[in-house]
Order: sequence, then structure tokens, then C-alpha cells
Amino acid sequence: MTNPLAPQLLAGKTALVTGSSRGIGADTVRYFAEAGANVVINFRNKEARALKLADTLRAGGANAITVGADLTDPASVAAMIDTVQAEFGGIDILVMNASGGMESGMAEDYAMVLNRDSQLNLLETALPALNPGARVVFVTSHQAHFINNTATMPEYEPVARSKRAGEDALRAKLPELTAAGVEFVVVSGDMIEGTITATLLERSNPGAISARKESAGKLYNVGEFAAEVALAAVEPVPENNTRYVGDVSDFS
Ligand SMILES: NC(=O)c1ccc[n+]([C@@H]2O[C@H](COP(=O)([O-])OP(=O)(O)OC[C@H]3O[C@@H](n4cnc5c(N)ncnc54)[C@H](OP(=O)(O)O)[C@@H]3O)[C@@H](O)[C@H]2O)c1
Repeated sequence: MTNPLAPQLLAGKTALVTGSSRGIGADTVRYFAEAGANVVINFRNKEARALKLADTLRAGGANAITVGADLTDPASVAAMIDTVQAEFGGIDILVMNASGGMESGMAEDYAMVLNRDSQLNLLETALPALNPGARVVFVTSHQAHFINNTATMPEYEPVARSKRAGEDALRAKLPELTAAGVEFVVVSGDMIEGTITATLLERSNPGAISARKESAGKLYNVGEFAAEVALAAVEPVPENNTRYVGDVSDFS
């Protein structure tokens, strides 16, 4: 996938993408770096991958740092924001990409803690560091965004409900964000081919991904979806602060 952002479009800007050592987050942070932004690669466990990505981006001429932070730990989130401010002065783009809740062995309320409480805490902690004109992008799925009206697979439902609760909690901050000169966009996408989530869901619901693909006409891959996330950070804020990626006709 070619970078949807023009070279130097983000020169002098700073972008923090949570969960960006791999997958959708990694491709998003790469697009920002190639467009001239200073980038912050946040990881929880995958430090080696984060370091490797930072090396690659620096070799291409970007300013890139890696910061480990578990979003469910407010102290490590505060330390991450302090590090970004010390290194780059402030944040122009915050992409809230990190997500979870299907991991085994976690507390029953883990999805809600990560996808709602920790996202809200991140936004509140980052707000003082957001530069005027900054853009916050929250990444979610159609299966979560539309969960109040359209059922999803049982294995994904707790995640869907927690991500929708997180989206609602962030939307409730819109007046405060607007007062601070900060813009907000939710990116909602269909299942993404080649991701761990899609693979896990296919394993417990054989045929689910191909059925979804047939119904939607097309499923985005990681690079294509990341391109939409990157564009959501720079294009005009869409109606109702929501950017839909892929077909939504099966959702209401
Ligand atoms: N997969 C899909 O089909 C799909 C479809 C539509 C929308 N989306 C959305 O796209 C985004 C990315 O999805 P994905 O499938 O690429 O996710 P993923 O493969 O599950 O990756 C999750 C990322 O979040 C990080 N992370 C998880 N828990 C964390 C925590 N407690 N603190 C900090 N970071 C944490 C992980 O970091 P480490 O690797 O370092 O642990 C990883 O980088 C999500 O918001 C998801 O809802 C996904």
C-alpha cells in the first residue's frame, strides 16, 4: 500500500499512535513518519518490534522514539506523555489504536478497563499536551460502533460493547476538546483481513470472514485500513465525527 499522505505534509508535527509496534498501528505510524512527522511508537509487550520499526523509520530520515506503556496503568500513561513532551514539546496527532479484550487469563472486566476506562484516561492525560489544532483519532470496528443495534459474534461481543462504551465516553468529551481547539474523529472499519482478531474469530466461527467479505464486497487489509486511519488524522472532520471505512449497509 502506498502512503496516502504527501511527503512533508506533516513536517514539524508530532504524532503518537498507541499500540504501534505491529499491525494497523505500525503501518499508521509509518505513514506519518514518511510524511515528515516526529513519531512516537507506543508498545506494551512488543519492545523488540517497536525498536526495529523505529530504526527503519530513522533510516528513512524520520525522528522516531519508542515508549513502553500499558494503557491500563495510569502511571505509565502519564510517564509516556511526559516523555513525548520532553522530546517533542507537544502532540499534534493522537491515534488511539491500541485495543484488546480477547486475551485469555484476564479479569472479567478487562475489555471495559482497556477499551473504555484506559482510553478516557489517556485522553484526559494527553489533553494538556495536545497542541492547538491537534487531532484525536479513535479507531474502532463496525461490529463495535453499531453493537447497540446490530448483533455480532458472541466471542467478540464483550470487546464490541467495551469499545462502544469507550467511543461514547470519548464523544462526551467533545465540548471540552472543542474548547481546547482539539478535533476528534472516530474511524470505524469492518473486519480487517490478516489480523489476529479476524483469525481468532474465524477459528471459532468458520466461514465468518469469507461470509463477511462476500456481503461487504471487499474487506480492507492492514495497510489499506491504516491508510484510512492516517487520512482521518488530516482530512476535514466528517459528519458526526465519524469516518466509515468499507460497507456499512449490513449495520444500523
Ligand atoms: N482486527 C480487525 O479486524 C479490526 C477491524 C476494525 C477495527 N479494528 C481496530 O483497529 C485497531 C487495531 O487493531 P489490531 O487488530 O491491529 O489490534 P491488535 O493486533 O490486537 O493489536 C493491538 C495493539 O494494541 C496494543 N495493546 C494491547 N493492549 C494494550 C495495553 N493494555 N496497553 C498498551 N497497548 C496495548 C498491542 O501492543 P503489544 O503488541 O505491544 O502488546 C498491539 O500493538 C483496534 O482499535 C481495533 O478495534 C480492528
